[in-house]
Amino acid sequence: MANTNSKSVTFEDIKKIFRDPQSGQDVAAVAGVSFRLEPGELVTLLGPSGCGKSTILRMLSGFEQPTSGKIMIGDNDVTNTPPNKRDTAMVFQSYGLFPHMNVADNVGYGLRLRKVPQKDIDVKVQKFLEMVGLGQMGKRPPSRLSGGQQQRVALARSLIVEPSVLLLDEPLSNLDALLREQMRVEIRRLQKSLGITAMYVTHDRVEAMSLSDRIIVMKLGHIIQIGTPSDIYRDPVNTFVAGFVGKVAFFPCEVKGIDDACHVEVKGQKFTAPRWAKTLKAGDKALVMARPESLAVGEPGAGVEDGIVTANIYLGNSVETWVKTDLGNVLVQIDNPDVKKIWDEGEKVSLSFDPALTKVLADDLEQA
Ligand SMILES: Nc1ncnc2c1ncn2[C@@H]1O[C@H](COP(=O)(O)OP(=O)(O)O)[C@@H](O)[C@H]1O
Ligand SMILES: [Mg+2]
Repeated sequence: MANTNSKSVTFEDIKKIFRDPQSGQDVAAVAGVSFRLEPGELVTLLGPSGCGKSTILRMLSGFEQPTSGKIMIGDNDVTNTPPNKRDTAMVFQSYGLFPHMNVADNVGYGLRLRKVPQKDIDVKVQKFLEMVGLGQMGKRPPSRLSGGQQQRVALARSLIVEPSVLLLDEPLSNLDALLREQMRVEIRRLQKSLGITAMYVTHDRVEAMSLSDRIIVMKLGHIIQIGTPSDIYRDPVNTFVAGFVGKVAFFPCEVKGIDDACHVEVKGQKFTAPRWAKTLKAGDKALVMARPESLAVGEPGAGVEDGIVTANIYLGNSVETWVKTDLGNVLVQIDNPDVKKIWDEGEKVSLSFDPALTKVLADDLEQA
């Protein structure tokens, strides 16, 4: 069922300026962004509320006009194309189903608009209902479905018209945690099996990490980094991305030298990190970024930073130990806790890191 219709998406230096109705001042909701989605790729816009994610989706769907720049879908410049001529479909947080139509009629809606014969619609609707696990629900009104089921109907309604680009704006935000986990697996499975190019918006890093081929991390209308989930987790470009996509600790250091690795000193101890921000040079004050799984807890004085254990959270195959230090509260992930020492709450300890898993970043914490 691969989609030969699937298209690339290109944004070329897109800006969107809004005039704030209160102050009368111009605000750049999107401050000049460029990116490209490959056909069949699922790319997520990830960033804090207000950073311009929905505005980008609305410009791609045509419901918002960019102030400047160019938008391409496949080989077509769609910058000035009206929404109904763009061949995109949008799934929202509020499912937006028609309450007076049953589930099957909701799903078939786009095909009726396209004047597809009813008997073909019936067959296709049933196929798409089965695809989202609602094969028996066609005759029900949407109000008799759970939130998760309603979102599946909305998804089927968007997918059935075989758009070249599927847009999803925080589609899972109204669902409870367990359902969210199931649905993100489901969405990715459907998107991949249909081969539809998709742009997904969320402020939830776990959601972004678990469903995306690539993630675009945004802040205040700017793209800060584009990369695969593992890229942005292991190799964030700055402390903002590092902190936004996962738990992290930063240890102040001095850069001693850079060759095919970055040599640093943390409290008189020398380390070599495999990754570093390319702006750094010898003599710079910088930060060693360490993720919870690269940290370890040991005797006080033995590591790079002393602290006190404030909590141990048992998760079965791992324990999360929180350590209060002068650098803040640091989370340490201890895998295979049965064979490791777990320090008690209140005990004095020290933190150390596995340098092979760290990255050295410029100290931009003030502005982050
Ligand atoms: N129609 C509008 N008029 C004025 N300001 C807007 C409008 N739509 C969005 N904004 C502003 O643009 C910025 C980005 O909004 P939005 O794209 O909705 O962010 P996100 O989806 O990342 O939360 C916000 O500061 C928001 O207040
Ligand atoms: Mg939004």
